[in-house]
Amino acid sequence: MQLVDVDIAKHTIELKVNGRPSNLVLDPRTSLLDALREHLHLTGTKKGCDHGQCGACTVLLNGRRINSCLTLAVMHEGDEIVTVEGLGSPQALHPLQAAFVERDGFQCGYCTSGQICSAVGMLAEVKAGWPSHVTADVASQQIELTAEEIRERMSGNICRCAAYPNIVAAIRDVAEGARR
Ligand code: FES
Ligand code: FES
Repeated sequence: MQLVDVDIAKHTIELKVNGRPSNLVLDPRTSLLDALREHLHLTGTKKGCDHGQCGACTVLLNGRRINSCLTLAVMHEGDEIVTVEGLGSPQALHPLQAAFVERDGFQCGYCTSGQICSAVGMLAEVKAGWPSHVTADVASQQIELTAEEIRERMSGNICRCAAYPNIVAAIRDVAEGARR
């Protein structure tokens, strides 16, 4: 196959990440994940598969969880993007970050930022009454966050170390704490 060298014009965009706007000059084919990691040096967001299979790249976009490897950075001017770095700080962890530490919800840690961002988005979905495939009563606005619900709702986030029992426990702790 003959490769054709195409001159692609760069785009200047403003991305708002963790409340901070940044101007970037990007090849329009740059994924949001690569913009975060390679251009903004926010390396908490991880690249696992780079094609929507593992969830390691999960970030929050206007409060909803997305795979940042599956979307282009140039599509997100004006959006509020939050990465794991924007959820909390070492001095003031987000409750889910603290719960993952408390429950030992990781081994190598490679999937962890994606798991935590995904869990933040997932708890918001439950609060909004969104059912999942295992919700018995899809009309109910009061969804009980059982271990089965958590596993189903977090099934887009793969952990190759199989820290799943502790991940589920950490998320349950936060969900139950929020209910109290
Ligand atoms: S790196 Fe995006 S889903 Fe795997
Ligand atoms: S902690 Fe290693 S992949 Fe999840």
